[in-house]
Amino acid sequence: MAEKGRIVPATEEYIREASRIILSGGLVAFPTETVYGLGANALDGGAVSRIFAAKGRPQDNPLIVHVSGAEQATEYAVVSKCARKLMESFWPGPLTVVLYSKGPVPDVTRAGLDTVALRAPRHPVALSLIEESGVPIAAPSANRSGRPSPTSAVAVADDLGCAVDLIIDGGPSSVGLESTVVDATRDRAVILRPGGVTREMLESVVGLSGGCSEIAHRSPGTRHRHYAPDIPLFLWDGADHAPFLEVSGLKWCYMGTKEPPEDTGAPYREVIFGSLGEYASGLFARLREFEASGAEMIIAQIPWDDGIGLAIRNRLERAAE
Ligand code: TXA
Ligand code: MG
Repeated sequence: MAEKGRIVPATEEYIREASRIILSGGLVAFPTETVYGLGANALDGGAVSRIFAAKGRPQDNPLIVHVSGAEQATEYAVVSKCARKLMESFWPGPLTVVLYSKGPVPDVTRAGLDTVALRAPRHPVALSLIEESGVPIAAPSANRSGRPSPTSAVAVADDLGCAVDLIIDGGPSSVGLESTVVDATRDRAVILRPGGVTREMLESVVGLSGGCSEIAHRSPGTRHRHYAPDIPLFLWDGADHAPFLEVSGLKWCYMGTKEPPEDTGAPYREVIFGSLGEYASGLFARLREFEASGAEMIIAQIPWDDGIGLAIRNRLERAAE
């Protein structure tokens, strides 16, 4: 038997091997434009259960089902007018659409909900794997539950290693934050998780309603602890006064688009991003790098909530909880 947790290059041959693993009920980690996913055949309840076990993921948190496009989506969901417009505008891409489920996606994939989350990723390796397998692929982010999402094959191996049958290396993820999750069961879409497709982009295509509590309970993932590094993370809003820096006396790492306040002394490591896009794509990798550096705490600048800033803010706030 082949060794588990192997990192292999994204060649046609390995994509074929990965699809055989998927069809025989195994687990394959693969690159997408957002983050790496931990994939299994979405229609095979036993295989999907293995994803939950490998991640230590709570059973009540449903998985995203990855498809090749809108046509395949119609096999598993009732595609609303709103969803149709979203798919036409943003698929393949970092947008997940939650719709009423129909057809063969089993309960365990949906965590028993009457809805299913669908996404067509904008990554050639992910799309080839879906097409080669001929089945939709259920895939959460390929991290241990609660940890920062992986944006490289090595980060997957660090978190999951032998729990995965094969890890396909497609280089660093370009977006770096997970997809935007949108409830599109009704006329107006509701953002359940901000991500790579921004609120402004969604608004240019469909009507949006603000999160009312009746809908909010339908994104089960938002109940659980998430994205947290192993050392404390503090958020800085960019104001001149940053009290935690004066008292800390600890080795601290810093990241943001702005220099940290001058009176705080030198950080142990510092990353200044050139743009919010760079911040998004570097955020999870830097959290992992900082925690492994021997530093005692991390300070991250929290951006305003326009554009991709909303998703960065969301991940940082939840990681610091
Ligand atoms: O970018 C991404 O979305 C990555 C890549 C691999 O595609 N996947 C990802 O999966 O981030 P995961 O499992 O880490 O996050 C999926 C989110 C969770 O918050 C989950 O609760 C929500 O989507 N979700 C899944 N199915 C849902 C449903 N039927 N209704 C509401 N929320 C759902
Ligand atoms: Mg995740």
